[in-house]
Formats: sequence, structure tokens, C-alpha cells
Amino acid sequence: DITDPQAALNHIPADIHCAQDYERLVREHIDPRALAYIDGGSGTETTLRSNLDAFAGFSLRPRLLRDLSAGHTRLRLLGRTLLHPVMLAPVAFHRLAHPEGELASANGAAATDACMVCSTLSSFRLEDVAERAGAEKWFQLYFQPRREHTLDLVRRAERAGFTALVVTLDASIQAPSIRARRAGFVMPPAIQPVNLAAYPAPAQVRLDRDQSIIFQGMMSEAPTWADLTWLLAHTTLPVVVKGVLHPADAIELRSKGVAGLVVSNHGGRSLDGVPASLPALPEIRRAVGEDYPLMLDSGIRSGTDIFKALALGADAVMVGRLQLHALAVAGALGVAHLIRTLREELEVCMALAGCATLDDIGPEMIQEQKGAH
Ligand code: FNR
Repeated sequence: DITDPQAALNHIPADIHCAQDYERLVREHIDPRALAYIDGGSGTETTLRSNLDAFAGFSLRPRLLRDLSAGHTRLRLLGRTLLHPVMLAPVAFHRLAHPEGELASANGAAATDACMVCSTLSSFRLEDVAERAGAEKWFQLYFQPRREHTLDLVRRAERAGFTALVVTLDASIQAPSIRARRAGFVMPPAIQPVNLAAYPAPAQVRLDRDQSIIFQGMMSEAPTWADLTWLLAHTTLPVVVKGVLHPADAIELRSKGVAGLVVSNHGGRSLDGVPASLPALPEIRRAVGEDYPLMLDSGIRSGTDIFKALALGADAVMVGRLQLHALAVAGALGVAHLIRTLREELEVCMALAGCATLDDIGPEMIQEQKGAH
């Protein structure tokens, strides 16, 4: 019973002491080729490395003697109250990590009050994922080559009870991962993008066994501003855009009616050579203003990382790879334990830094280390 915290602890490997321990332990629980696909970045993995280095480049500036008696991690996001700012990023094909795939992740998120973002490329149907997820669930949308198919996905997400759409715009084609190729990774035939089964790929796109272009059929027709405007006119759900790095895009997206942004470089899996997403935050926060919803992902591995992202302007963070690691190690319990651990790490960090609420975590709480960049 994953809603019983004691029962959950019984199934968690004894040597998990922090969120990042899942990254180490996962090697014993997953095929190395699948792990190369999950952990790898695109190209030379320059951006992947930058994402992790960026967090190390900032240190904390704690304050003393502040009243922490009413401390909490609640926030308002898109008109709803979340108990904490740890979200599950949209990640394709959870069945690579665990036979129960997204269903287990959704259970883990529900048990820990986390908002789960279900990928278009989920390996269980979005309707079934929605049923397991808690009250907070968003659907990540990849534009399909044909608008009628995109619209069908949107209607299905609305009917299933998702409360927001996350449109990912930084991966119109899948960038090859040299690490996954070297490992000889091929998507197992049993793992399919089942949400798209009813939308045949356009005839001219040949699906190849080579994993670097296996998804090209789904992502080959990159959306434009006109497509985004069309989408905004065709759904009543708030639309969040994921993959923003440039303040000019942020301003334009906001003015078009987009409800929030995810500052992200896709975890270093899309365009290699872009900077880490963390240092992009302050400029984008300044561009969109104080109250506009901003999330960050790419490189979150601890509660201290979350603190730094919030200090630089994020309202919440999304966790990508770590959720698949925890899923592979201990299924739904692992995901629940990961989220709880990240939340606890954040709370410890807040308490010792003198921040009773997320609003107290401002830019004055951290500083860039000299010579870090
Ligand atoms: C992803 N990501 C992703 N993003 C998205 O919008 N749709 C998707 O289907 C996927 N699929 C996907 C698969 C795998 C295996 C990974 C690791 C990532 C990107 C994801 O949402 C997020 O941006 C990054 O994972 C964040 O970086 P970290 O937390 O992995 O460092």
C-alpha cells in the first residue's frame, strides 16, 4: 500500500539516503542499453554537463534568527494550490524502466501530491495514466503532423481530466544520442507510443529500426507560431510552453496567451551546445514579470538544486531522469519515495537557510561562485 509511508519504506533499498542515490543504484535494475538511452544527452553532451555544473556554480547565503514556525512549501500555480514545487517532467516510455510504466509513476505522484506531466509518448494510454494520477496532472503535447490528430489528443486529454497542456517546442525532431547508439540501444518492439496508435504516420516517413530516427514520423513537421495560435483558440485548458531559453520568446509567448513557461533545454537531449537552463532563469523572470508562472527543469538532482532554481525565479521544478531511476529501482514506491525525499531535502535547505515559505527564497539567498562560469 503506497499510501502508507511505513509500508513504502519497507520496499526501498536500504542504501538510498538521498534523491541522487537513485542515479547510482539504477544500474543494478535496468538494461545498460536502456540506461544509455535514458541518461544520455545529444551530441557531445556539452549541454548535459552544463546542466549539472550550473547548480554547482551557485552557493547559498543563509540568514539567521528568522521565524520558521509557520513554514510550508505550498504554492499557487495556474490557479491551483500545490503542496510542494516538485513535479514529474514529461518523459517518454516509462515501460523502459518498469513493466508498470506510467501507471506506477502516476501512483507514486498521487501518493505524494505531486503534479505529473504525462508525455504524448507515454507507453500506457493517457486515459489510464490520468485515472491513476492525483488531482494535479498535466498532459504534454507534441504537435502531430496533422491538426485533426493534434486536436484529438487535446480532446482526449481534456476528457481524461488533465488540468493543463504542456506544449514542448524544443524538440521538433529527435536529436541523436551518441551514447545510446554506442550502447546499441533499440526501442523494444513491445514498447510503443500507444497514444498515437490511431494516428498513422504520414506515408512519406519511413520508420527505421535505427533509434535516432524512429520518432521522426511524429516530430517531422515542426510547429510554427500559427500552430500555437491555433491551439490556444481550440482548448479551454491553460497552455504551458516547455523548452524556453530566450527571453524574447518568453515575452512573445506570454503576449499570445500562453499561461506559463518551462525554462528547459530538454535535459541536454535536444540542441547540444545551448547553455544550462538554470542561468537562463533570471533574465526570463525579468522579461515576463514577477507573477507569471515559470518552471525549470534540466539538472535537478537534489532539494538544494530546487532551492537554487526557486531563488533564480522558478515557481516550481520538474524532474526528468531521476523519476525513471526511482521507477526502475522500486516502481511506484520508488517514485513516491523520490518525491518525498526531494521535498524533505528542500525543506531542510529552507529551514537552515532561514526561509519559511517558497516566497522567501529570493535571488538574495544565493550567490554565483567566483570563477564558476
Ligand atoms: C525526456 N524529456 C521529454 N520531454 C518532453 O517534453 N516529452 C517527452 O516525451 C520527453 N521524453 C524524455 C525521455 C527521457 C528518457 C528523458 C530523460 C527526458 C525531457 C524531460 O521532460 C526534461 O526536460 C528533462 O529530463 C529534464 O532534465 P533532467 O531532470 O533529466 O536532468
